[in-house]
Amino acid sequence: MKLLVTAGPTREAIDPVRYISNRSSGKMGYAVAAAAVARGHAVRLISGPVSLGPPEGAHAVQVITAAEMLRAVEENLSWCDVLVMCAAVADWRPVRPQPEKIKKNSRSLAIEFEPTRDILGAVASRKGPRLFVGFAAETSALVEHAAVKLAAKNLDYIVANDVSRSDAGFEVDANAAWVLGSDGSRTEWPLMTKQAMAGKIMDLVEKAAYG
Ligand code: PMT
Repeated sequence: MKLLVTAGPTREAIDPVRYISNRSSGKMGYAVAAAAVARGHAVRLISGPVSLGPPEGAHAVQVITAAEMLRAVEENLSWCDVLVMCAAVADWRPVRPQPEKIKKNSRSLAIEFEPTRDILGAVASRKGPRLFVGFAAETSALVEHAAVKLAAKNLDYIVANDVSRSDAGFEVDANAAWVLGSDGSRTEWPLMTKQAMAGKIMDLVEKAAYG
């Protein structure tokens, strides 16, 4: 199988020295890429800026902004059988990134933001027979919010994690999730290493592909 995996955060420039981003370390997405390589699948990993080295055997594509990640996903989509969108893509970016460093000469700073394009939304019409797996980063009503994203983003599965926890989600080595399927299935995965969760995601993907 050919898997296109996204991981890590994106960064949206405010000026040449500042940006808005999020806490994604890339660990979850890199674990999925590594698990897929270990099972003999071809992997292209599109990653935002993280401090991890790409798993050996995966073809890595480095991006910084949400727009660059969108372009990379669009360029690689026709190659893949499975898209796993684990990246924490910025939902907002500054409307006018400043060409010079903003000086500290006023008591407050207002930055106007505009929404980035939703990557899954942008490629939904090209899904065809591909399997799409998304993630949902939530701080409340995990299953309810994830169910809305599963349908709205045309996904086969969504892995919903509670990113307000300190022992799971962003940055740490473990995760816990509810996994919702477009077939109506809902399964709770207890706290486990991100490697173990990546293995469970690959079990789902392989079962969906091979039966
Ligand atoms: O990197 P780690 O530190 O290991 O942390 C892992 C994680 C918490 C980042 C990961 O498990 C996770 O939850 N990733 C998804 C984060 C996210 O952006 O969730 P969301 O609920 O905002 O988005 C829902 C889905 O839409 C995601 O699959 C996301 O990749 C996708 N999306 C979001 C915004 C956007 N502009 N385009 C998208 O396609």
